[in-house]
Amino acid sequence: MTAVDLAALRQRAASLRQLIQYHAHRYHVLDAPEISDEAYDSLFQELLELERAHPDLIAPDSPTLRAGAPPAAGFARVEHPAPMLSLGNAVTPDDLYAWRERLLRLLPGDIAILYTVEPKIDGLTVVLHYEEGLFTLGATRGDGSVGEEITANLRTVRSLPLRVPVAGDEAPPRRLVVRGEAYMSKAEFARFQAAQEAESGRRYVNPRNTAAGALRNLDPAVTAARPLDLWAYQIVALEAGPDLAGQWPALAYLARLGFPVTQAENRRFDDFDALVAYCVQWGERRHELPYEVDGLVIKVDDFALQERLGYVGKDPRWAVAYKYPSAEAATRLLAIQVEVGRTGVLTPRAVLEPVYLGGVTVSSATLHNADYIAERDIRVGDTVVIKRAGEVIPQVLRALPELRSGAETPWQMPDRCPVCGGPVARYAGEVAYYCENMACPAQLVRRIEFFVSRAAMDIAGFGSKQAELFVAKGFIHEIADIYDLPDRREALLALEGFAAKKVENLLQAIAASKQQPATRLLTGLGIHFVGAAVAELLLEHFRSFAALAAASAEEMAEIEGIGPRIAASVTAWFAQPANQRTLARLAAAGLPMRLPEATPEAPATLAGRTFVITGTLPTWSRDRATAIIKEHGGKVAAAVSGATDYLLAGEKAGSKLEKAQKLGIPILSEEDVRALLGWPAA
Ligand code: IVH
Repeated sequence: MTAVDLAALRQRAASLRQLIQYHAHRYHVLDAPEISDEAYDSLFQELLELERAHPDLIAPDSPTLRAGAPPAAGFARVEHPAPMLSLGNAVTPDDLYAWRERLLRLLPGDIAILYTVEPKIDGLTVVLHYEEGLFTLGATRGDGSVGEEITANLRTVRSLPLRVPVAGDEAPPRRLVVRGEAYMSKAEFARFQAAQEAESGRRYVNPRNTAAGALRNLDPAVTAARPLDLWAYQIVALEAGPDLAGQWPALAYLARLGFPVTQAENRRFDDFDALVAYCVQWGERRHELPYEVDGLVIKVDDFALQERLGYVGKDPRWAVAYKYPSAEAATRLLAIQVEVGRTGVLTPRAVLEPVYLGGVTVSSATLHNADYIAERDIRVGDTVVIKRAGEVIPQVLRALPELRSGAETPWQMPDRCPVCGGPVARYAGEVAYYCENMACPAQLVRRIEFFVSRAAMDIAGFGSKQAELFVAKGFIHEIADIYDLPDRREALLALEGFAAKKVENLLQAIAASKQQPATRLLTGLGIHFVGAAVAELLLEHFRSFAALAAASAEEMAEIEGIGPRIAASVTAWFAQPANQRTLARLAAAGLPMRLPEATPEAPATLAGRTFVITGTLPTWSRDRATAIIKEHGGKVAAAVSGATDYLLAGEKAGSKLEKAQKLGIPILSEEDVRALLGWPAA
């Protein structure tokens, strides 16, 4: 994870906190909620997951630190008889082996361990209390030690036994507390979703959120209207019942009492390799199940061993979740935003209903360009399939038109820049649309960002945040303004978060950047098609900004590696008066406007001499000749002109030789140059 990623997550967590607090206030205090419970829950869930993954993002005012989620304040609190632990994750077979290694280290050698494997149901934890066989109390997991009392809602769950045993004449235990997962089956979800869509146009995102909304609703009628199911998987407390030695017999007992148990999918292994193989293979058919799962849970079967292993933090050492990373997910495309790049390119970006995908919560994805959207007929409001490969930005693959309600709207590139309102244009043969306004603040921010970045002037302590801030404050209107920042020391010190030390460091880094080579400066200008390599080629050839500015596109295109497209872009850039002013200001600020004349090691024998090379030389390649001339302080130009001092000519010299002869320019052979340098003959 890079610092940028972390900063983005921090930002996201802060926005979520603010949004959740706002909606909680609307709900509780004003009694005027603006969003559905589902929407609220998914925001809350996202924050929870973020904080779980990055505990240092937890702020003291996080709504997740409250006991129970705010909208459920109407529920009574239920203390759990034992902490409702969560599970550590494994995502590869290696993780599973590492988990086993850890527990073997804590156990005496030479004991045979049995492991129970069960599906990990993607639903909501519920804690069910039975007194003398009667279902008396049901709760959510809450914060793990205290949950919310949802007995009435749970009574609507059809597969939940209201009295156990459901059949047979076994005596009920005096007290029984069972942990299970309430969920909505895929089929019920599809039915429910279709009905809701037809009735109210409301769309539900996934079975889990829908089930959560149902269970944590203050009106049991709402719960009843959403058919939920139950899987039971753990005995939390048992009094006056049979002696159970481990998880496998416990599951059998639960099944005997009439609880729904995922028996068909459960396995018990003594051979860990076989267990790992089962986990890997099972992943392939997990989608065939009628309910959603996000992995398998592997538990040390023996209760005595479980107790011995105990837990770390909130995770038991004796169990682990083997999770299948989902490479694709479906979610709603809420909006398409247009981002303005450094060169003015407008890039559409998908704003998504947050969805868990391959280990992270994704809320935005790339849509590439306007053609991409049009070709796939992707509309705002569509349910779309998104994909995340490795660590790259997720992308929208396609829309699912089957799920359209009719309210979806086709999208078009706006004809005005979304940031500055400037005109938008598209050039023949190009996919991209551009904001044509050079002064567009979004472009400016991107340009500054790039100029100060590591790829260019590498100014420490100057990043996107500072670029945005300084542009917003009006400190920077163009690149050259960066070097006027020392004149604004007072204003900088007045900014929030800019302590004296920080300002000093920043100003020092800015001053230090004046020592960067001219090639970095040329790169930093962000001229279309001019990256570090092209900047190098151009300056190696022309040596100075002045010579580069004076060069024609044809001259540039003669450099190997510089095509007509680059040449046209560079000449167009230098032709703009605004850019010329920028360069003049940068020069006045003391930035390097040329490459150093010669490397100190080599004597500058050829200083001030401009060569043109033509034809095939006896031993030197063109590049070698160029390097040698430059090493000795000479220049190499592409075309013969009045400024040419020598023509270095070899075999099969053509028009350049003729032109040089016409202009009376001395013609040298490779031998002659060697002699000039005082070198022995080849
Ligand atoms: S065992 C200490 N077994 O997965 C044992 N959990 O983070 C912890 N889950 O919140 C739970 N299916 O709600 C267990 N067969 C299963 C499960 C299961 C789903 C959920 C549970 C928990 C989460 C783990």
